[in-house]
Amino acid sequence: MTLTSQTGTIPTQAGAAPTLAETAPKVLSLLAGYVGHRTVSIGLRTGLIRALADRPGSTADDLADAFDLDHFYVSVWCRAALAASVIERDGAGYRLGDHIATLLLDTTSPAFVGGVFGVLEAPEVFGRFEEAFATGERMWWDDTSPEWIAAVSGTGTPFYTRLIPGGLDRVPGVAEALAAGCRIADTACGAGLGLVRLATTYPACTVVGVDGDQHSIDRARARLADVGLSDRVELICSALEDMELDAPARVVVNNISMHECRDIDRVTDNVFAALEPGGWFVISDFPFPDTDETLRSVPGRIMTGIQFFEAQIDDQLLPRTAYDDLLTRHGFTDIGSVQLTPMHALTYGRRP
Ligand SMILES: C[S@@+](CC[C@H](N)C(=O)[O-])C[C@H]1O[C@@H](n2cnc3c(N)ncnc32)[C@H](O)[C@@H]1O
Repeated sequence: MTLTSQTGTIPTQAGAAPTLAETAPKVLSLLAGYVGHRTVSIGLRTGLIRALADRPGSTADDLADAFDLDHFYVSVWCRAALAASVIERDGAGYRLGDHIATLLLDTTSPAFVGGVFGVLEAPEVFGRFEEAFATGERMWWDDTSPEWIAAVSGTGTPFYTRLIPGGLDRVPGVAEALAAGCRIADTACGAGLGLVRLATTYPACTVVGVDGDQHSIDRARARLADVGLSDRVELICSALEDMELDAPARVVVNNISMHECRDIDRVTDNVFAALEPGGWFVISDFPFPDTDETLRSVPGRIMTGIQFFEAQIDDQLLPRTAYDDLLTRHGFTDIGSVQLTPMHALTYGRRP
């Protein structure tokens, strides 16, 4: 709050402008976050974090010997990881901090965030964005590298873990339909992780995966073959804007991809047409902050990082309520939502 006098604006106690000393730590915390991020990324890539999970108490010298790395460099990494609270002292050596193994290494955990480090370091996020700053040149998934697609699949993993079955269980009626057996479609299935999870979690169901990127479909096909599920899952390479299923589905899911559709209304029409009457469409996505306050939260700031990639494929993450509006204007009923984490929400509706 400010008061206005003849001499100008006088900040009151409540609205006093922050001092330099109060502002500087906020800027410095950005540098500290960057250092922590790079430290974790190096630790994940080299296997040092995995080694400390497997062999707590290892010293920097033990780690250097095990990985044939430079002893002095490993000691520098250990100190930075200690500073970032990723590791703790354990006798003469180190161990991972509490829950760090779950958060950074356990790909089966709903809390896994280890994949995001690789995604944010990939050239597809900040590097290419800055190169194309002046031209605004856009790209599509087939312009990205196989490493990028693998990294994104790693980020999508905990979203699928939370969605299947826990998230779907929270959509009234869906668990019963899936247990009884029905056809379920994963639209924008990517490299097929969700297809495997759907087919194994719901053995009475048939599954169809649709994606517009041929490389992702190829990866999904290989993944399904590896786990012996090829006969239970059909794959279709098609833009969702042109999607046609040969048989209607009872449940259609979309995991962290709905915001990417170039024509979200056409896609929603196609999903509606692909559903049996009474069928459900479940959108699982990042809920982009719709206030400055939530934008400035830690999850909000991470999501603004993801927007650098999204911009290059000509979209942006959407506020969750945008999906309420979308489903409403396409005639879906029984619309509801569930917040699974600060960075993951479901929005669902039924075809009448
Ligand atoms: C962020 S990835 C997510 C993949 C997968 N659902 C997961 O969670 O791992 C987005 C996927 O959506 C696909 N995609 C985006 N827009 C699409 C569209 N309009 N039609 C078909 N596929 C699309 C991309 O090819 C990519 O595989």
